[in-house]
Amino acid sequence: MATLRLGDEAPNFTAQTTEGEIDFHQWLGDGWGVLFSHPADYTPVCTTELGATAKLKSEFEKRNVKVAALSVDGLESHKGWINDINETQHTTVNFPIIADEDKKVASLYDMIHPNADDKMTVRSVFIIGPDKKIKLMITYPASTGRNFSEILRVIDSLQLTAYQKVATPVNWKEGEDCVILPSVTNEEAEKLFPKGFKEVKPYLRMTPQPN
Ligand code: BEZ
Repeated sequence: MATLRLGDEAPNFTAQTTEGEIDFHQWLGDGWGVLFSHPADYTPVCTTELGATAKLKSEFEKRNVKVAALSVDGLESHKGWINDINETQHTTVNFPIIADEDKKVASLYDMIHPNADDKMTVRSVFIIGPDKKIKLMITYPASTGRNFSEILRVIDSLQLTAYQKVATPVNWKEGEDCVILPSVTNEEAEKLFPKGFKEVKPYLRMTPQPN
């Protein structure tokens, strides 16, 4: 299996999850998706990550994003661990955790990095668009819990830039000024961005978030 790259189709699979068997593409439907792996059940950092994800359900729903987690542990292990996540993180896990004991999905998505650990998945994140194409991949080591605010921030940027001829600058957050794509001429920019734009340099033009 060739390494996945941005723009590739997210590989489809069927899998057992804590919310029943899913066909990944069917389950995603017409919306966006986040597929993320964690090293193992009953581990401390992962417990905090999955609890935080559950608490962000309304934020993901607002953006029409479905979330699925994955590790190479089995279904019974996932189900037992969910009780601990709910208890310790004061939440209710409300998204499927894929049981990938045979490492089928982990190998499709290259989530096991043998020089880090040859048995457990690393902390991979894939954001998948409604066209089932991979829009973002990030990989964290086992020792570093992810920042799920950053994942939401990237989704906001992806959803904006999918429809508007802008990109988002450093540390951008929803509602802040955007940069106009270099391919857009100033004449076009005047029509496309009625709120106006500021030409800092010919290649650096800022406009209020257009949507
Ligand atoms: C954790 O989730 O806490 C963890 C998992 C594997 C290695 C180190 C930490």
